[in-house]
Amino acid sequence: MQDFEGRTAVVTGAGSGIGRSMAEYAAASGMQVVAADVQADALDETVALVRDAGAEVLGVVTDVGDPAAVEALADAAFARFGAVHLLHNNAGVFQAGVSWQRTRADWEWVMRVNFWGVLYGLQSFVPRLLEQEARGGPDAEIHIVNTSSIAGVSTVAYSGPYVVSKFACAALTESLAHDLAAQGSAIGVSCLVPGAVDTQIARSTRNRPDEPPGEAQAPDHWFVADALGHLIRDRGRPPVEAAALVFDGIRAGRFWIDTSESFETLLAARHAALLDRALPPGAQV
Ligand SMILES: NC(=O)c1ccc[n+]([C@@H]2O[C@H](COP(=O)([O-])OP(=O)(O)OC[C@H]3O[C@@H](n4cnc5c(N)ncnc54)[C@H](O)[C@@H]3O)[C@@H](O)[C@H]2O)c1
Repeated sequence: MQDFEGRTAVVTGAGSGIGRSMAEYAAASGMQVVAADVQADALDETVALVRDAGAEVLGVVTDVGDPAAVEALADAAFARFGAVHLLHNNAGVFQAGVSWQRTRADWEWVMRVNFWGVLYGLQSFVPRLLEQEARGGPDAEIHIVNTSSIAGVSTVAYSGPYVVSKFACAALTESLAHDLAAQGSAIGVSCLVPGAVDTQIARSTRNRPDEPPGEAQAPDHWFVADALGHLIRDRGRPPVEAAALVFDGIRAGRFWIDTSESFETLLAARHAALLDRALPPGAQV
């Protein structure tokens, strides 16, 4: 996809960080924006920013872990704008911890948002996007971006739930690209694998609905979340740079869209270890 003017973007997790910057960048590129987030006040702020920038925008409060809510998001997007050209399944949460110590509720929360949320996005939108593509014309140019993470292509200690959810998202995105190509669809697919970006991700539990008392104190979550918070504040890229890289990646038709200088080094070390039948080195948080 080369031309964004007059097209429509749907972005989940648009109330903060990368999603908000994507919504603003899409607006600045001349797109209409459908912004979705579970946090209503944060979503309202994004909607106001995009509207003030002069773009047409629809805000839809959406919990991506609820398939009915994601279906309602798709209904609302197509009802308002008639077509969707860029779908960015971006909402995500961070859950750290030692794999065997994290509770079932912890695992379910992170998988619900980071994996099932992306899958529900595909289930609700892809059939409509395929119909849109089949109708031909300018609306046939469509691109889907799923946000995984550098933790979706390389592993690290103390972050089992997040790493597993992001590997699942990356594998789902590869499967999506293969499935679409196998069915003769030209819909573009990219997997965003950000390194550190200066967002609110280390404070993800602010939107956790079911947090059992005491869970928030789990030291193996909080010491990593705290370290991550410092890391992204000190070394994270501004989210607007990540959004610019996403748009560059879409224009270039890249499947992997990375944002950090360590991407190639990490991947090279991982692949060397895999070929040696050895455990890939873990990145330090
Ligand atoms: N910031 C980083 O360093 C980094 C690195 C790699 C990957 N990522 C990924 O980038 C994506 C965006 O995160 P961010 O860094 O901008 O964090 P962020 O916390 O600033 O933004 C995430 C947004 O997702 C929303 N959200 C949470 N649960 C939701 C749900 N159930 N339904 C809908 N929206 C929900 C939050 O309300 C928030 O607005 C996530 O998938 C994250 O895992 C971030």
